[in-house]
Amino acid sequence: MICEILKMGDARLLRHAQPWPEEALGAPELQTLIADLWETMHAAHGAGLAAPQIGQDWQVVVFGTGKPNPRYPQAPVMEPMVLINPVIRPLPDAAGVAQEELGFEGCLSVPGLRAEVPRWAHIRYEGFNERGLRVVREARGFHARVVQHECDHLWGKLYPMRVRDFSKFGFTEVMFPDIKTLSK
Ligand code: NI
Repeated sequence: MICEILKMGDARLLRHAQPWPEEALGAPELQTLIADLWETMHAAHGAGLAAPQIGQDWQVVVFGTGKPNPRYPQAPVMEPMVLINPVIRPLPDAAGVAQEELGFEGCLSVPGLRAEVPRWAHIRYEGFNERGLRVVREARGFHARVVQHECDHLWGKLYPMRVRDFSKFGFTEVMFPDIKTLSK
């Protein structure tokens, strides 16, 4: 089912979402939630979507389309992935320091805008997939950025809360006129 995507200002986006009960990873309700997330994300041409964005107070995110995304034409193709009850840790570089990097982000809950946001450059993330299996992965660059952005939704954080340089915050159509905004 295509659901309404909540927009910034809605208090439901500011909640700390609840972990999905591990004993219920096989529940049909979880599969329905995941299907709704995919359907809603694809209809909005998103790169990812978190359950709180459709008003569901659970720690469930989906991201990746398996094909180029018109909203992020420079981004590498990411395989579709479901992550339940995720935990993210930054990983240190060769000098033993976890590095941040800056990159532009948008969000389906903040339509029409983009900003430069600092994120960990290299992370390890873990959680459960849609089959209830434990997954542990490492990610860098855009992949790491998407995971951090989507999981932030689970802690009630939207990307504007992480912006440091507000001179790098603006309307997509002004800052990136070549990007098809697809009515979003
Ligand atoms: Ni978002």
